[in-house]
Amino acid sequence: MGRLDGKVALITGAGSGMGRLAARAFVDEGALVVACDLKEAAARETVADLGERAVAVAADVTREADVARMVSTAVDRFGRLTVLYNNAGIFDQADESVLTMDEAVWDRTMAINVKGVAFCCKHGIPELIRAGGGSVINIASFVALMGCTVPQDAYTASKGAVVSLTRSLAVQFGPQGVRANAICPGPIETPLLRDLLKDENKRRVRLSRVPMGRFGQPEDVVSLSVYLASDESTWTNGAALVVDGGISVNYF
Ligand SMILES: NC(=O)c1ccc[n+]([C@@H]2O[C@H](COP(=O)([O-])OP(=O)(O)OC[C@H]3O[C@@H](n4cnc5c(N)ncnc54)[C@H](O)[C@@H]3O)[C@@H](O)[C@H]2O)c1
Repeated sequence: MGRLDGKVALITGAGSGMGRLAARAFVDEGALVVACDLKEAAARETVADLGERAVAVAADVTREADVARMVSTAVDRFGRLTVLYNNAGIFDQADESVLTMDEAVWDRTMAINVKGVAFCCKHGIPELIRAGGGSVINIASFVALMGCTVPQDAYTASKGAVVSLTRSLAVQFGPQGVRANAICPGPIETPLLRDLLKDENKRRVRLSRVPMGRFGQPEDVVSLSVYLASDESTWTNGAALVVDGGISVNYF
């Protein structure tokens, strides 16, 4: 028996990194999965060997019509939706301090990381309610909770918004059986981080802050997502769960 038997999950940003691994892990645990990504070929590659239990959908989370279509695809294909996994997000290499802020970088970051999550909730949560309850999993970041002397201010602000929005969702929809939780990962070795870590100095500075002595792996986050998607977490609501190898509790 799988931990996610009977669940129907929609995962955004499922064409790469943690979203791709989550799609595969969810299917392994018995869920039916709608794997969405801006990049259609990447989403298709994710589901290529998952058979009938997963479907790929090309969707840009900043476009409301795309979001409505991906939610209706889940319902049409699998009958209902019980897990909304808002994972799509970007970190722009040009995103540094507000002092050097480029307006286009700010707007794009906010559009994908915040408005995209809001659109997915707007269209996904009514389906979770219709299904009799469900779980919203929002991927934020540990930078939502602590300052960083190597700033990435648009990203930081966007992930702070995700944590705040998650709390609001938790109290609004808890009475209807819909839980909402945020995961705040530390640096995880995915394509998103790989480019940043090509710079040896940036890599060394970040690694020196991790008590566990390594960067995170996608599995470190996805195992928590499986818990949040499952009935093991039916009283976990409104949390911002940190998975960062101890970075955020490290004074020196
Ligand atoms: N990797 C890290 O260190 C780290 C740390 C903390 C939080 N996160 C967050 O985890 C999430 C997943 O990150 P990852 O490292 O797996 O990233 P990734 O870049 O490997 O994957 C992100 C996916 O999102 C998709 N995407 C981007 N814009 C989209 C849009 N508008 N609509 C639909 N899909 C879109 C991309 O095509 C890509 O496939 C992101 O929200 C990220 O901010 C990552």
